[in-house]
This record gives sequence, C-alpha cells and structure tokens, in this order.
Amino acid sequence: MTSWNYATIAAHRGGGKLAPENTLAAIDAGAALGHRLFECDAKLSKDGQIFLLHDDTLERTSSGWGVAGDLSWEQLRQVDAGGWFSHRFKGEPLPLLSEVAERCRRLNLQINIEIKPTTGSEVQTGREVALAAQRLWQGMTPPLISSFSIEALAAARDAAPTLPRGLLLENWRDDWAELARRLECVAIHVWHRDLTAERITALKAKGLRILAWTVNNPRRAEQLLRQGVDIICTDRIDRIGPDFARQI
Ligand code: G3P
Ligand code: MG
Repeated sequence: MTSWNYATIAAHRGGGKLAPENTLAAIDAGAALGHRLFECDAKLSKDGQIFLLHDDTLERTSSGWGVAGDLSWEQLRQVDAGGWFSHRFKGEPLPLLSEVAERCRRLNLQINIEIKPTTGSEVQTGREVALAAQRLWQGMTPPLISSFSIEALAAARDAAPTLPRGLLLENWRDDWAELARRLECVAIHVWHRDLTAERITALKAKGLRILAWTVNNPRRAEQLLRQGVDIICTDRIDRIGPDFARQI
C-alpha cells in the first residue's frame, strides 16, 4: 500500500473562496498562503484532453457556454475562467492537468484529483485521468484520486492500481466498507455533516483514512481533527491555514 504523507489541510478547488476555482491562479493563491495540498476537479474534452472544471457545463465559472465535454480543447482553451470571479482574474484560462502537474512539481505541492466525468463518460474519464496522473506525477507524491462515480473509480483502479484512491460519498451509505474494499481505496471522503464520532471510529477501525469536505468553520475543523479525521478540505484557506492542525 502507498505510504500516506498528505498534508492535513486541502485547499478546495485550488484556492477556496480566494480565487476562481480550478485554475492555476487558485493554486497559486493557496500556495502563497503556504498550503501544500490542493483538491481539484478533472474531466475530458471532446478530443481527450484532461482539464479542470467542476460543472458539466461552462456557464457558472467561465465565459463559455454549453457542455464542456462536447467541446475540443482548441475551443476550451479560449474560454475565460477568471473574469466571472473578479476583473483581477480576467483572462485566466482553464488549466490542463499537465499544467497542474508542472505547478505541483515547481512548487512542491500535493494534489487530490477528483475525477468529475461528464455524464456518460465515467469509465473513459476514470481511466484517462488515472493514467495521466500516474505519468505526470512521476517522482512526486502520488495524487490522491477520488470520485463520486463508482464506475470512474473502478476504471481508475484498473488503469493505475498503485495510485491511492479515495471513495467520495455524496451521502452516507452503510455499505461503505464493502465499496472501499472492492475499489481498493485507502481513504473515504465524506461530507463533514455525515461524520459522527462513531462513524469516524468505525472507518479508522477498517484502516481507512478520512477526508472531510467541505469544512469552513474552524471550530468544526478542530473537532474533526481531534476525532481522527486525516484531511480537512476547506474553502476558507485563509482561516483554516496550512498550520491549523499544529496550532490546536
Ligand atoms: O472532493 C471534495 C469535494 O470537492 C466534493 O464536492 O462538488 O465540491 O466537487 P464538489
Ligand atoms: Mg471536488
């Protein structure tokens, strides 16, 4: 099993609320505060390029419109993914996963890549993201690969079995142990309101690491860390800083 040496605080979507989500500028904003671990959402363009975007569609977080996975990278790379957030970020592009890997290598950062497939392309996205992650992060801390999609996670396991995987739960489900075993996951990523002390104890007893998302209240983050949660994924990267765990 891969050794676990991830930082305790993960900057959600790169820069939390401080920068346009899932951009290099977001990662830079988090890194400027000293953050070492970043969560991002990855999907495929129509011609098989892997880039960062949360939604299936472009409208909410860019100047583009429509289903992103229906467009070629040549079309997607012209989209402004920063202006919707603030004029300061106008012209910020959608990043390729390869550019994210370069940033991680240059700044010595760790990453949790959430596979966020366009509906209908779960298996292909899971496979392609895992293969690219394995290739691009050679010599670095391996990316922690997660997904809400069981199909995507299974495809990632088959394509790159040695990459660490986290089972991302949208809602709590009682068959988590069987699912985690089947998908050979080292971690479970749970909505923090679903995490009780009893559930944390049960997850730890099975040897699973726990990532809690998305925790924006420092008191709640402190409670979860004291109860045994391994990673706090947060939008409030300013209030829940990289040294948060050491200060409690
Ligand atoms: O990976 C944790 C979290 O990012 C999952 O939810 O919707 O923000 O991708 P979402
Ligand atoms: Mg995510």
